[in-house]
Amino acid sequence: MFSQKVIEWTKANGQEVTDPEEELFELYTKFYGFKSTDREEFTDPSAEELDISIDGLSTPITIHQNTNINSILSQTGGVVWDCSVIMSRFLCGLSKTGSWPFDEAQGIELGCGCGLVGIALHKLGTKRIILTDQQKLLRLAKLNVETNTRVGPGSGESARSSKRTTKKKSHSMESKSNREVETPIGVIELEWGTPINVGNICNGEPLDFVVISDCVYSEDVVTLLLSTLSQLAMARQDGAKTIFIIGQELRSEIVHEAFVSNLLKSFCMYRLSIDSKIDSYFALYVAWKR
Ligand SMILES: C[S@@+](CC[C@H](N)C(=O)[O-])C[C@H]1O[C@@H](n2cnc3c(N)ncnc32)[C@H](O)[C@@H]1O
Repeated sequence: MFSQKVIEWTKANGQEVTDPEEELFELYTKFYGFKSTDREEFTDPSAEELDISIDGLSTPITIHQNTNINSILSQTGGVVWDCSVIMSRFLCGLSKTGSWPFDEAQGIELGCGCGLVGIALHKLGTKRIILTDQQKLLRLAKLNVETNTRVGPGSGESARSSKRTTKKKSHSMESKSNREVETPIGVIELEWGTPINVGNICNGEPLDFVVISDCVYSEDVVTLLLSTLSQLAMARQDGAKTIFIIGQELRSEIVHEAFVSNLLKSFCMYRLSIDSKIDSYFALYVAWKR
């Protein structure tokens, strides 16, 4: 079963987080010592469209962005954040090892923005994935889902060459494998802090995982997000755990501390290492309800 395998793998490969102060000290000591000029940029917020290659997927994912600087969307989910590229690469890599069998799992993405992580997991063969965000973001997420689900083996070029005169940027991550299958993918509204009917989201089937990329960025947002995580964690009736996969760029110690200390009250939490450079400005957590 997905959750059992992921928990075993995480306990063997991750570092358990038990003390928020220690966690923050460890993360932010490295962060303040890291030169931002040494950081690789995975995204380009000024591009209307990006082709993002993910190791393990045979075709790049084409992402449309909202680059209108006057639009509130361009500041939040209207553009792809580095975190979602890092998470997509990491999760697609893990799936190849067989330790994280996404093809047996159904999940949702919270605060999907442009939808990169959810789309990557779909292309990887995840059994069912539903992308969620606030109403105002759904049009963009739907456009990106539609664009990438039209891009099948052999049809990618036509889908990607239509109506584009905009700036494009390709990321030079290795791309291989052929594991692209048509499994269900959807986009729906999910406003954090509001009551959720999980049965409606997953067609009555258990929620195996929740993926969250770069959504811990203000104290108000953290309160709402934590309330949604608690609701989602309680929803399973079969005794198995829902796995929460949470990626976050390091920005604010105060916000990060609020998130970790509150999550630890009722969740087990492990941090996974990606590589020494990325670990200097980024944290990836796997969590499940105690
Ligand atoms: C920094 S963006 C990250 C977008 C995307 N996950 C990524 O990594 O590229 C934060 C996302 O959280 C969403 N968000 C913020 N507050 C929310 C709320 N109350 N309910 C649902 N989504 C929310 C925003 O709409 C936005 O898409």
